Amino acid sequence: MNDETGTRACVIGWPVEHSRSPLIHGYWLRRYGVAGRYDRRAVQPEELEDFLLGLAGEGLRGGNVTIPHKERAWEIISEANPEGIGRMGNRLKAVNTVWLDEVGRLHADNTDVHGFMANFHDRLGDWNGTGRHVVVLGAGGAARAVIAGFVDVGVRNVTVVNRTVEKAEKMAEELGEPVRALPLEKLGEVMPEADVFVNATSLGMTGQPSLDLDLSPLPDDAVVADIVYVPLETDLLKRARQRGLRTVDGLGMLLHQAVPGFEKWFGVRPDVTPELRRLVEADLAS
Ligand code: ATR
Repeated sequence: MNDETGTRACVIGWPVEHSRSPLIHGYWLRRYGVAGRYDRRAVQPEELEDFLLGLAGEGLRGGNVTIPHKERAWEIISEANPEGIGRMGNRLKAVNTVWLDEVGRLHADNTDVHGFMANFHDRLGDWNGTGRHVVVLGAGGAARAVIAGFVDVGVRNVTVVNRTVEKAEKMAEELGEPVRALPLEKLGEVMPEADVFVNATSLGMTGQPSLDLDLSPLPDDAVVADIVYVPLETDLLKRARQRGLRTVDGLGMLLHQAVPGFEKWFGVRPDVTPELRRLVEADLAS
């Protein structure tokens, strides 16, 4: 059910029309027979604070926070309820999921890290990160979540490679061992020793410049992952597949990051099913 009477949640962003979150949560509401609804709300940056502090008045139990609000939402909620932010939210200083507890206090956390790693394990079975070398391209918010996830599972080396090397250096400094920074021109030097290569930039997304990378130096057992999911199989993933490498696409991260939020608002821990994946794939293709 997706009705007017039960618990309500929404995704806020500016713009927000592109968000697939209502499709994902709408599927789970139907699947688990939960009386509730999940909508999109376009919230401008200057409206964000009032919106977050007024969730209860809007009849909302919580929701997702998307671009460009994740960092500012962290600041607002840290101030409103200093104890209310989860470990990853504080580590990344950015949140994507907010909820009210039983007494109406505002909480938030960042589930992008969980989303990326849960999908990574889901797609690769018993992948064990201990001692590996992961190379991440990009130094924005998405890269930060990906890197934090790998550091947490005990990866020995994480190299963050970025066009603007200063941003990579700042990230390495903030996240600490075992993260180090490298300028884009030197990417070729680390490719032969990469167990995992992740594109955490928007390069390769429909409408964005392509990512022209030579994948031939990667070891034969390397994994190539992309956070981009439009198109579902990016040119990077296609070339990796053609080279015989294992690949992880970006759609699974989107599906898995939604799981903890649904559980907080609607009280059921939902499954990322093949049917859900097909539903979102069909929507992306249309
Ligand atoms: P998000 O928070 O979604 O990750 P972002 O902060 O805008 O987005 O980060 C985008 C990333 O893509 C950055 O690492 C950016 O590199 P710069 O820090 O040098 O800007 C990278 N990126 C975007 N366009 C790029 C391009 N044409 N070539 C190389 N890197 C690019």
